[in-house]
Amino acid sequence: MVKEIGVVGLGLMGSSIACCLLCAGHHVVGIESKEENGTSALHRIKILLEDLALKEKLTEPAHQILGRLEISTLLSRMATMELVLESIDEEISVKHQLLAALETCVAETTIIGSNTSSIAISELQQHMQHPERLIGIHWGEPAHISRFMEVILGKKSQAVYAEKILSMAVKWGKEPVYIKKDIQGFVANRLMYAMFREAFYLLENGYASMEDIDRACQNDMGLWMGFLGPFRYMDLTGVAAYAKAAEELFPQLNNQSVLPSTFQNGQDLHGQHFYSYTKKEKIHWEKMFLDYSSEIMELTSRYKERAKEI
Ligand SMILES: NC(=O)c1ccc[n+]([C@@H]2O[C@H](COP(=O)([O-])OP(=O)(O)OC[C@H]3O[C@@H](n4cnc5c(N)ncnc54)[C@H](O)[C@@H]3O)[C@@H](O)[C@H]2O)c1
Repeated sequence: MVKEIGVVGLGLMGSSIACCLLCAGHHVVGIESKEENGTSALHRIKILLEDLALKEKLTEPAHQILGRLEISTLLSRMATMELVLESIDEEISVKHQLLAALETCVAETTIIGSNTSSIAISELQQHMQHPERLIGIHWGEPAHISRFMEVILGKKSQAVYAEKILSMAVKWGKEPVYIKKDIQGFVANRLMYAMFREAFYLLENGYASMEDIDRACQNDMGLWMGFLGPFRYMDLTGVAAYAKAAEELFPQLNNQSVLPSTFQNGQDLHGQHFYSYTKKEKIHWEKMFLDYSSEIMELTSRYKERAKEI
């Protein structure tokens, strides 16, 4: 087993990825661009571990797990890693820059995983000296709880590297999806953004409020999505009816490619929210989301076990 794993970028996702790997028994060396970002990440990872301890999800004391974490600002610390995961800003030029810098310090066979959500892996492979070892390893937030993972081959990736990740992913508690042909957005984000686009269309054209659109999702798709995918759901509820409705509805769905104006088009979006919150309310929602994620995982695990018995 790979003992030590590098994680570059310890923001929202990098922190929960590091937490997941630490809990799975790995030593993790996290790289942040500034020391203060590293300190915030350490604080976040500590909170995530304490939360897991409270929920009795840890097999060893939180401080022992945290003892396997090292945080540094020096990319050269990646030199001895067999696997490095990048989870830095979603900017193609920034990712290209990091990949070039990484390749100067890691071995030729070090697997590099990118957590990009929307950039094609083949795009990231351009300009790389050893593009065959770049694999898309797309995590879901919260990465230390979610079963979600997509493992993606770019045009130049070698399958043997992806296969190594697929077997490690199971030990990280994931049910990985293997995407053998690179496509921007992969599977989950293509599905999710199709829904987001329609949500903006309905909102901006006055068909329903934000609250009502959110409520419709929670109570309709939210009821089955944790257990069934679209195809199983259609099987169980009548394929013929969906074929009829799809014929009517597909031509009616929004397919615009411009950014919805609700995103405050052209402005700095950092800190934008769709609802308004006090700082305390925001923390409360984030905590509830963590708790909910853990509970829904327990519930779906039970039904996944039952499905295996069929
Ligand atoms: N947020 C999500 O739910 C989510 C889900 C799946 C994938 N992703 C992807 O994960 C990546 C990170 O997203 P995030 O939400 O964690 O962003 P974030 O802004 O919270 O974190 C990015 C971190 O990377 C650090 N960073 C930037 N350049 C660096 C460098 N050269 N070296 C070291 N550290 C550097 C920043 O300081 C920051 O802490 C993105 O590619 C994003 O698309 C995010």
